[in-house]
Amino acid sequence: MRAVFAALALTATCLTVPAAPAAASDNGLSIRPAMGWSSWSFVRRWPDETKMKAQADALVSSGLADKGYVYVNLDDFYQKCDSNGFVVDNYGRWAVDSAKFPSGIKALADYVHAKGLKFGFYVTPGIAKNAVTANKPIEGTSYHAKDIADTSQTHKNYNCKNMYRLNYSHPGAQAFINSWADQMASWGVDYLKIDGVDASTVADVEAWDKALRQTGRPINFALSNNLPIAQATTWKRLANSWRTQGDVECYCGSGPNGSGYPLTDWSHVVSRFNSAASWQQYAGPGGWNDYDSLQIGNGDQVGLTADQRRSHMTHWAMAASPLLLGTDLTALTSVDLAMLKNDRLIAVNQDGVAAQRVVNSGVNQVWRKREANGDYIIALYNTGTSGNSTVSVTWAQAGFTGPAAVTNLWSGASEGTIASSYSATLRPGETRLIRARPAGAATRYEAENATISQGAAESNHSGFSGTGFVNADNVTGSYVEFTVNAAEAGSRTVTIRYANGTSVNRPMTVAVNGAAVQTRDFPGTGDWDTWADATLTVSLNAGANTVRLTGTTANGGPNVDYLDVS
Ligand code: GCU
Repeated sequence: MRAVFAALALTATCLTVPAAPAAASDNGLSIRPAMGWSSWSFVRRWPDETKMKAQADALVSSGLADKGYVYVNLDDFYQKCDSNGFVVDNYGRWAVDSAKFPSGIKALADYVHAKGLKFGFYVTPGIAKNAVTANKPIEGTSYHAKDIADTSQTHKNYNCKNMYRLNYSHPGAQAFINSWADQMASWGVDYLKIDGVDASTVADVEAWDKALRQTGRPINFALSNNLPIAQATTWKRLANSWRTQGDVECYCGSGPNGSGYPLTDWSHVVSRFNSAASWQQYAGPGGWNDYDSLQIGNGDQVGLTADQRRSHMTHWAMAASPLLLGTDLTALTSVDLAMLKNDRLIAVNQDGVAAQRVVNSGVNQVWRKREANGDYIIALYNTGTSGNSTVSVTWAQAGFTGPAAVTNLWSGASEGTIASSYSATLRPGETRLIRARPAGAATRYEAENATISQGAAESNHSGFSGTGFVNADNVTGSYVEFTVNAAEAGSRTVTIRYANGTSVNRPMTVAVNGAAVQTRDFPGTGDWDTWADATLTVSLNAGANTVRLTGTTANGGPNVDYLDVS
């Protein structure tokens, strides 16, 4: 073994045990916040297949789909009511209004899928009164609606109402929800919003979670609306997102029931800042705080100024909220389209870190988060509606010390190196969003983005950075190889973050630019959710270098999360 490229100095392996976050749903979905469009804000109570297809078309032709906005979510009012509530099918499930959707939901989902998009759907808890009155059979069982309904109590519903509660101690209740989920899966549903959820509907959310899982189809599970924070860990365990408060819509438009423009107003947007401060701790890969639809796309008529719309987008990005557009995509303005397509803003949303509020003084607010790569993202807001305000933050408040290279994320302009604090004089409703990169910060290389030989990127354990980790095959010679760029040749500290849930050491050879520099130990970390840092020093060439980690035993290496190079 040659040690030409690397002089090795081992430091003690230290276990990094993060403050135990609440566990996310293990359905493996929504490792990043969902992006797309929902029919509720603009289309409101009048969805039909023509309108849905037009919005899907526009999602693609506008270029938004290429930026990651891929969900086309059909919200409420696709069903049909009679005077007793929802009209139902042969097995007691809501019938789709064939006047609105003459080709059926599967045909619509097929259309959406053919465009490379994903299809979302809507439900509320319980069983329709009409199913019970007609005592409809439960598909695939000998049970009937009367066996499973509790007709003494109804659920919240915003449309035809008359939804009885289910008696989940009867096996037919789960079978009923399963049959409904199976129907959705057979239609091609990729996302399901269950509305009308509150503290009294935990059993319904559990039943739908089970039902969606047993379909075998990956279906992103979203809870709505106004979820109580007291059960936050329950929502997080069961679902991929949850609305933290009532609707962002103002219901102050000129159409029936307050539909039409304006869709919202600033008070409905800014009220989510307080909500985000309380719910911040619950967001993470697989489970997101949903601050409701993004009302950007149609200019000022949505009820927000351009400054307020940029603040709206900034806050949703800082909070790592799902980005589900509520606007009319067939009438996008160029100013708004540029906001929605800003790659730097999208990256802040998709970093999967929910920001914390560090300044809340009068109209001034400052939020901060640290991304996995060591950068700090800082948003300064003037939340007022009149008068300019100077908003300031120190680097210490943001979470670091020493100088940092600053980039303005809305414009992309570099603002140079800034010593210790930042301030901006902002118009009412205006934001300043910056990325601050502390001098000397390590560069992170996520293993899931590296070259993998005999192994796979996975996300089925918690606590990883980025979107996952590498599980190398349990064979000698399986490896993960990073390409590491160095501005100049010299010695660097490399930190390998790994987990080994066994009690058996999983040694790997570290090779730099093809030359093995060390075979080192990766002992057990207790379990696969507990990550440890292994630190070594290597010499790098100027430019691109390869760092390859190869398992030397039949167990292969440990799971590898990332390589930090500083
Ligand atoms: C388990 C674990 C994997 C791990 C594997 C192994 O299957 O879930 O993440 O990679 O063991 O032994 O390597």
